[in-house]
This record gives sequence, C-alpha cells and structure tokens, in this order.
Amino acid sequence: MESANSEKSRPNWLSRALHDDSTSLAFFVGAAVLIVLGVTEGLIMVIQFVFPDFLAGIPWLVFGRIRQSHTNTVMFAFLSMGQMGFWYYVIPRLTGRKLYSEALGVISAILWGGAVLAGVILELFGFSQGREYAEMIYVIDVAVIVVCILNIINLFMTISKRVEQNLYVVVWYIAGALMWFPLLYFIGNVMWNPPSGALTGINDAIFNWFYGHNVLGLWFTPGLLAVSYYIVPRETRTPVYSHFLSLIAFWGLVIFYTGVGGHHLEWAPIPYWLKTIAVAESIGMSVTIIAFLFNMWMTMRGNWNKVGSSLPLKFVTVSWLAYVLVSFQGTQEALRSINLLTHFTQYVTAHAHLSLLLFGASAVMGAAYFCIPKMLNIAIWSKKLANIGFVLYIIGFSFFFLGFLLVGLTQGAAWVHIGLPVWTVLPGIRPYLALRAAGGTVLWLGFIFFVVNILATVIVRKPVSVPSQSEVKSNTGLVPDGTPAD
Ligand code: HEM
Ligand code: HEM
Repeated sequence: MESANSEKSRPNWLSRALHDDSTSLAFFVGAAVLIVLGVTEGLIMVIQFVFPDFLAGIPWLVFGRIRQSHTNTVMFAFLSMGQMGFWYYVIPRLTGRKLYSEALGVISAILWGGAVLAGVILELFGFSQGREYAEMIYVIDVAVIVVCILNIINLFMTISKRVEQNLYVVVWYIAGALMWFPLLYFIGNVMWNPPSGALTGINDAIFNWFYGHNVLGLWFTPGLLAVSYYIVPRETRTPVYSHFLSLIAFWGLVIFYTGVGGHHLEWAPIPYWLKTIAVAESIGMSVTIIAFLFNMWMTMRGNWNKVGSSLPLKFVTVSWLAYVLVSFQGTQEALRSINLLTHFTQYVTAHAHLSLLLFGASAVMGAAYFCIPKMLNIAIWSKKLANIGFVLYIIGFSFFFLGFLLVGLTQGAAWVHIGLPVWTVLPGIRPYLALRAAGGTVLWLGFIFFVVNILATVIVRKPVSVPSQSEVKSNTGLVPDGTPAD
C-alpha cells in the first residue's frame, strides 16, 4: 500500500495522474481507444468478403494479415484491457483495501496497451508467428508475461491485506484468471523456444489448441463472468441467489474446460482418445452452464423490469444470456456429427462472435458504463447516445450473426450432403455475405458510439445530477447513472 508520506513526496503532476482507480481508468481508456482499430479491421474484412478487390494491392491490408491483427486486437487489446480495468476497480472494493500500488498498475496498463498495439501493427506488416491466437512475436509475448506478473503482485497483495473476510465469488473468478493465464500463455506460445515459438508437427497443433480454447475458457470466461457476478447483484440490489451454485460453475470450468482443446481438431490426426475426452468434457460443460443459468435466473427473478432503466445492466444481461446460449451451441458443435457439418465453415466464426463479441464485448461495455462514472463521481456524457448505441449494437449484431450462420450452414450442407467443392458455393452465399456486411456496418457504428461516449465521459466530466425526491422514494435499486453507490 502506498503510504501517505510517499504520496506527499510526489511531484504535483504525478499526484494528479495517480489517484485511486487510475489503473482501472487507464485500462478502460486503453480498451476503448484500441477497439476502434479492432472493429475497423473487422469491417474491412466483411466488405472484402463481398467485394474481394476492396483495398486490393495494399500488402498490409490483405485479408490474411488483417484477420490475425483483428483477432489479437479484439482479444488482447479490447477484451483483456477491459476486463483488467474492471478487476482493478472491483478488487479494492470487495476487499475493503486500496490497491497495493496505483503506480505499478498504471505502468502495467501502459506496458500492456503499448506492447499489444505494437504486436498487432507488426502483424499487419507480416511479423507473425502464424499460430492462431498466439501470433504476436516473441518480445510481445515477454511483455505480456511481465504484465501478468505485475498484475499478480498488485492484485494478490491487495487481496492478502483484505479487511473484508468473505472472499466473494467475483474474487474467486478473477484470482483464477490471474493465475491460469500466464502459465497458459507461456505453454501455448511455446515460449521456451524463442526462434519459432512453436513445436513441430501434430504436437504443435495439440499445444496450440490446448492454449487456444483455454485462453477463452480460463482467461476470458472467468474474467468476464466476474462482471455479471458483480454488476447483476449491484444493479438489481439482490444478492447472488446461491454462492454454492457459483462455486459449482467455477469448479466446473476448472474440471471440464481444461481438456476441451481437442474439439478443435476432430478431423486432424491427433490421438482418438484425446478427441473423445474433448467431446466428453464439452458435454460435461453443460453442468457448469446449467448451474450458472439457474443462479443468474433466480437472481434476476422479480428484477427484469430494472434492465430497461440501467444501462450497465442492459449490456451485462445481454452478456450473460449470450454466454449461456453460446455454451449450449458449443456443446452441440463439439459432437462429431455436428462438427462434421460445421467445422470447415463460417459457422465456427459465428460461434466465435456470439461468444467473444456478444458475451465478451457486452460485459466490457457494461463494466465501462458502470465503473467509470462511479470512480470519477461523474455522469455518463450522453445517456441518449449510449442507448442509441446499444440498439445499433443489438440490431447490427443480429443481422451480422445471421449472415455468418447462413453462410456457415450453406457451406457445410453443400460440402457434406452434395460434396460440392468450396468455390461452387461462393455465388450462392454472396447475399448472406452482403447481409453480414450490412449488419457488421451497423454493429461497427454501435461500437463507435460507445467509444465516443466513454472518451467524452472521461474528458468532459459532466457533474452528477442530484436524484429527485420521487426517484429516491421509488428507488428499487435504480441508481441513476453516475450516482456513486459505493
Ligand atoms: C469486440 C468485437 C469483436 C470480437 C471479439 C471479434 C472476434 C473475432 C474472432 C475471435 C475471430 C476469429 C474467429 C475464428 O477463427 O473462428 C473473428 C474473425 C472475424 N471477424 Fe470479428 N470480432 C469482433 C468484431 C467484429 C466486427 C465489428 C466485424 C465486422 C464488422 C468482424 C468481422 C470479422 C470477420 C469478417 C472475421 C473473419 C471471418 C472468417 O475468417 O471467416 N468482427 N472475429
Ligand atoms: C460449453 C462451452 C463451449 C463449448 C463446448 C464450445 C465448443 C466449441 C467448438 C466445438 C468449437 C469449434 C471447433 C471447430 O470446429 O473448429 C468452438 C470454437 C470457438 N469457441 Fe467455443 N465453446 C464453448 C464456449 C465458448 C466460450 C464461452 C467462448 C468465449 C469466451 C468460446 C469461443 C470460441 C471461439 C473464439 C471459437 C473459434 C476458434 C477458432 O478460431 O477456430 N466458446 N467452440
């Protein structure tokens, strides 16, 4: 913990920059700025699918390079920084302690943001290790691991000095993600082999997908579910229905998620037993999901009317519902008979967006709209813009997702049932690709509205309006946005 003496001895500019929650704010702002790059890359790609000559001849904008830069930007810049912003906000509040070191935290945010930005730009110029979700080059991997260690020091030191005796379930999930990710990243990126960051042959595929799915299941899933476990009870003023069910869902992740990597390789020559374990564990994940669904559903009982009036709750409700949906979809997709139809198609990418976008991005946006006004004691710059952004986001996503599904199912059906080669299907799927591009454009706009609103909130710092008497009386947990409720 930084002492009062050390605060006094700081130069003025440093004291202004380093205050409570400055780490959280730095991570959130980084996430908001960098998502502009991520979604714009996505937009370029959906247009390229309809008009393959779009931006042709510019080497750093060819599909293969943008795609990896897109996935790494949305995952490691936006979602990761967003979830870390939330963790740095929530851990001090749930432990009753100030953050161990805001200075260390801000350094972590700058290092992470700078390193990942460098990594994804270098990918556009062809510097890539070419393994899915592990593309960033070695030096960037080292920076990622350094920040993970700084996070562990900062957040675990805060937790270890806690005055609140209960270890809330939110803290469990965050602690899990903090510990698992560096190990996973180290193994998945084969960091003991710097020249290539890879093994050889089929072993490399097994390692890559052990990492590939666990980065989703043991980094983003616990990190982002923590948002639902915190914001749903806070905004509905109802405790989580069952601590026990939360722990079943937590341990379910640990037990079942760790072995599912093989379901990405059902048609690759990996050992058959590895595939069978992966399919069985994918089915086992249903236990986790049912426990989570029941818990959230019961917490929301009698509270659904609050969703309309709370912006963070809107995003977070979409997030946890999407998590449930995508997990059931994933369990089906893992079955061999269905995977045969879907694997080599864009159905998988539909699933990827239902998960990382609708579950993940919604959680980050809900968290940003919840935490930033509270930590700065200000109001959201424009609630109207935020609500319009939300509607665009949902409508845009629906058409975008439908386009992906239709493309994927057509590709799969043509391949499995009629044995048509890929190129013959292309004219038939073009209308669906166009639908996806149209939805994607609206979705892109939804993200831009979010970014503008968050940055304007931080820069303009609109004062909180005092709630009227009637609002206070009828307070059923509908805290007006921006009212500090901590
Ligand atoms: C935070 C928001 C987003 C997230 C988390 C996200 C995530 C992803 C991921 C994980 C993939 C790789 C999927 C796979 O390998 O199966 C991907 C690919 C892709 N994304 Fe996104 N994305 C986001 C936003 C967007 C937007 C706004 C657009 C379009 C406007 C878009 C268009 C695409 C396209 C066209 C692909 C390549 C599809 C393919 O190769 O078949 N994404 N995205
Ligand atoms: C019960 C839970 C889940 C199961 C059983 C499951 C299963 C699957 C399966 C079978 C695939 C397709 C593999 C293929 O044919 O190539 C897949 C892909 C994917 N899943 Fe899930 N999924 C689950 C939940 C999630 C969650 C919560 C996330 C995000 C946090 C997620 C993100 C993804 C992504 C990004 C891909 C695309 C990977 C690629 O690039 O090929 N899934 N999942």
